[in-house]
Amino acid sequence: MNSTATSPEASRPLLTLKGIEKRFSLSGDFLEQLQFKGGKLVRHQEHVHAINGVDLDIQRGEALCVVGESGCGKSTVARTVMGLITPSAGEVHYDGERIDNLSTKQLLPYRRRMQMIFQNPYASLNPRMTIQQTLEEPIRLHHPDWSNQAVKDKVSEVMTSVGISADWGPRYGHEFSGGQRQRIAIARALAVDPEFIVADEPISALDVSIQAQVLNLLMEAQQRSNLTYLFITHDLAVVEHFGTRVAVMYLGRVCEVAPTATLFSRPRHPYTQALMSAIPRLEDDRPQHIRLEGEVPTPVNLPSGCVFHGRCPHADERCRQEIPALIATDDGGQVACHAVEEGRIG
Ligand SMILES: Nc1ncnc2c1ncn2[C@@H]1O[C@H](COP(=O)(O)OP(=O)(O)OP(=O)(O)O)[C@@H](O)[C@H]1O
Ligand code: SF4
Ligand SMILES: [Mg+2]
Repeated sequence: MNSTATSPEASRPLLTLKGIEKRFSLSGDFLEQLQFKGGKLVRHQEHVHAINGVDLDIQRGEALCVVGESGCGKSTVARTVMGLITPSAGEVHYDGERIDNLSTKQLLPYRRRMQMIFQNPYASLNPRMTIQQTLEEPIRLHHPDWSNQAVKDKVSEVMTSVGISADWGPRYGHEFSGGQRQRIAIARALAVDPEFIVADEPISALDVSIQAQVLNLLMEAQQRSNLTYLFITHDLAVVEHFGTRVAVMYLGRVCEVAPTATLFSRPRHPYTQALMSAIPRLEDDRPQHIRLEGEVPTPVNLPSGCVFHGRCPHADERCRQEIPALIATDDGGQVACHAVEEGRIG
C-alpha cells in the first residue's frame, strides 16, 4: 500500500498564496515624490496595484493554469511565487513552510525544488556560455559535492530527455533555433530535479509549428518526474490541453478557480463566461459571444468593490461597494462573485 497517500505531506498543498498583494511605485524616490500644492510641500505617491489579494492553493502533481488578459498580474504572481519579487502584503507557503520572508541563503534549498521557465528563450540563455556550461551551472550550485563526471552525466541525461543531442554541449545559444533554445531552458530547469515548475508563457514566443512539441515535452517531463506546474498562458486551447485546474485573473484578483473540464463546461463568473464565449467551437450550442462593454480599468486607480463591476452585465449596488470573496461552489471550484453567491446567476 502507498503509505504517502494519506500522509499530511501528501494532502497539504505544495504551494499556498495567502492574500498576496504587490504594488509597484510609480512616483520614484522620496525626493521625487515631493510636490508643491497650495503653497505646501506634500508627498504624492502613486502605485500600480499589480496584484490585489490573491489566494491560491496548488496541489502536488497538478498543472494549475493561470489565465487572464495582458496586465492582469499573471507574471507578478509567478515572480512572487519564485521569490524574485517581495509581496507588499500576504504570505507564500511552500510545502508547509513560509518562504516569502527568507534570506537568499535560507531560500537556496527551495530554489532547487522550484524552477522557472520564462517566455523568451532568446533572453533566458547567457550568450557567453556554452550549452554545457549553461546546464552545468545550476547542478554545481545545488550539488557542490558531485564529481565532474557525475555533473557531466547529468547534463547528458537532461539534454537527451529534451531531445537535444548531448554532443551539442560545446555550442552557444545563438546557434540554436527558438524552439531548441526553449528546450535547453527546460533542460536547465530539469537539471536539478525540481518538483515544482513555474512556466510563464513558455510557448507563446515560439513558432506555432513547434509550440505543440514543447508543450508535449513539458507534459512528458511532468509524468516522468511527477512534477507540479504553475503554468501561465493567455491561450485557452493550451489550458484545455494542459491544465488540470484553471485560475482566471482579472485586474490583479482571482475571479474563479475550477477543474479544467468544469470551467469549460460551466463557467460561473461573468468574466470567465465572457472569456469562454469568445472561443470558436464547431459544435456550438452555447450562448452567443458575450461582448464586454468598456475597457479594463487602470491598475493605478482600482475600482471600488468588485474590480469587474464597470463591465459586468450583472453588477448592482453591492458589487460597486463590496469586494467579493472567493467561495466554494458545488462543483469543486471557487468563484468570487456576489451574483453567484446570491443565486442571481447560475
Ligand atoms: N516592475 C514593475 N513596475 C511597475 N509596474 C509593473 C512592474 N511589473 C509589472 N507592472 C504592472 O503590473 C501590472 C501587472 O503586470 P504583469 O506583468 O504581472 O501582467 P501579466 O498578466 O503578466 O501581463 P502579460 O499577459 O502582458 O504578460 C501591469 O499593469 C504592469 O504594467
Ligand atoms: S460581483 Fe457583481 S460585478 Fe462582480 S462579477 Fe459578480 S455580479 Fe459582476
Ligand atoms: Mg506576463
